[in-house]
Amino acid sequence: MSSDQQNNEMASHTHAGRRQSERRPSDRRGSDRRFSDASRRPSIDPSRLIPMDKATHLGGHQDFNVVFVGAGNIMFGSEEGPWNHSFRLEHKLGPRLKVVALIDPAIDRAIMVLQKKCETFVRSAYENTRVFRTLEDFHKNMHPKERPKAVIIGSPPMFRGTTQPGRDIEMQLMRFFPGVALFIEKPVTTGPASEIDEAFAVAKAIDDSNTICSVGYMLRYLKAVQMIKRIIEENNLNVMSTIARYACAYEAISKPDWWDKSKSAGPVVEQGTHFCDLSRYFGGEVDIASVTAHSLEWHENAGQLSKQTIDESQIAPENRIPRVTAATWKYDSGAVGSFMHVVALQGHNYSCELEIYTDGYQFKLVDPYVQPILYIRRPGSDLDEQHRFPDDDPFFSEVSNLIDVIEDIEEEPESSQILCSYEDAVKTYELTWAIRLASEKSRKVHEAGEA
Ligand SMILES: NC(=O)c1ccc[n+]([C@@H]2O[C@H](COP(=O)([O-])OP(=O)(O)OC[C@H]3O[C@@H](n4cnc5c(N)ncnc54)[C@H](O)[C@@H]3O)[C@@H](O)[C@H]2O)c1
Repeated sequence: MSSDQQNNEMASHTHAGRRQSERRPSDRRGSDRRFSDASRRPSIDPSRLIPMDKATHLGGHQDFNVVFVGAGNIMFGSEEGPWNHSFRLEHKLGPRLKVVALIDPAIDRAIMVLQKKCETFVRSAYENTRVFRTLEDFHKNMHPKERPKAVIIGSPPMFRGTTQPGRDIEMQLMRFFPGVALFIEKPVTTGPASEIDEAFAVAKAIDDSNTICSVGYMLRYLKAVQMIKRIIEENNLNVMSTIARYACAYEAISKPDWWDKSKSAGPVVEQGTHFCDLSRYFGGEVDIASVTAHSLEWHENAGQLSKQTIDESQIAPENRIPRVTAATWKYDSGAVGSFMHVVALQGHNYSCELEIYTDGYQFKLVDPYVQPILYIRRPGSDLDEQHRFPDDDPFFSEVSNLIDVIEDIEEEPESSQILCSYEDAVKTYELTWAIRLASEKSRKVHEAGEA
């Protein structure tokens, strides 16, 4: 590129109104510390959440080095859903993206995905990517100019979120690359409930080191979700109740591990977590001791499924997942939350809804994964307004906001925000475990009563 072209690009960049923030990025990194009332969490003006085809890629010329941890579906896409972080990063960072390393013990899988990328127009981001089995190997062999600016972590949760060797990727990253920004997929970890304190210790280390960190609860970035947030904030409303229902299409779930609680931690911790998180995003902190729950189990008459595509007999009976889990709890504010996870639908699409009640308002978010529709009933009316959000891409908004915070770029104050900090995500993890434990406890009481 000639210097004239460079100057023009810089000029057009400035004309777009972008400027270096006067605030430190830590102000916008989603830390809960700023929010004394936990139900008032960070939010984004919904009009700023723009789809990928309307967004311009980041300006500037310097390489933006990224390390990917995990070469699986979340990182490179799959038939199962719209997730694909590499694709969004390519659009956000444009020619600046340089994926310096891909860490995955499944070397062949990693090499294959890189080969595919190198056959396309995004080749420049991947042609020098090196594959390593472990982060330590990369660190030992890293050339100084390969030092990453951001690390995107999409490995299975059992390999992260603790302080134990081999399951402590966050701690390793902060040790090897202090100051590097992190993006971490949900759930933050999986393992026995006794390890939740370790996840909080990781959260503290991230916070204490001022590490920029975003966790992949992308539904927080939905335009519909931010529209609800805005109305609540503008009208100074108090959330009275959240009602969440997550009914998955089990026929489409063919990963045996998902059906095995000892591997995936169960459907509430692994999957329902998105809706438990959204409930917390609106309701605030949960009084964990108040959580109660019931389940319909695999061996009960009503729990029989006719279209499983896995062989459940291969899973130890005590590790088979419940078909229904229903929970209620109190928020610290006094509001009441409820959540139901259902493994009953066949076909492909999930059926998920979240309702939020405040004095005079009902917000009902339907189908947030595929075609979000938001119904709003306002004070003084019996009618439901209906809002649709074609082209909304929360996966892009999540990545885009993170990069803007890392680059400390903003078009207007408050425009770029990380909406889910690590600590916030650990609290969601804690809630999902509390739901699982409460349902297992009530199951024991029920079974003892029957015996
Ligand atoms: N936000 C969403 O909607 C969404 C969607 C899909 C997946 N996810 C999350 O992303 C994570 C990964 O899921 P996935 O579907 O990509 O799984 P996957 O099985 O397709 O891929 C995981 C990859 O990580 C690799 N891996 C295993 N151990 C590793 C380690 N120690 N270090 C680095 N890599 C390792 C595996 O070899 C595999 O290639 C999970 O936490 C999942 O819940 C989130």
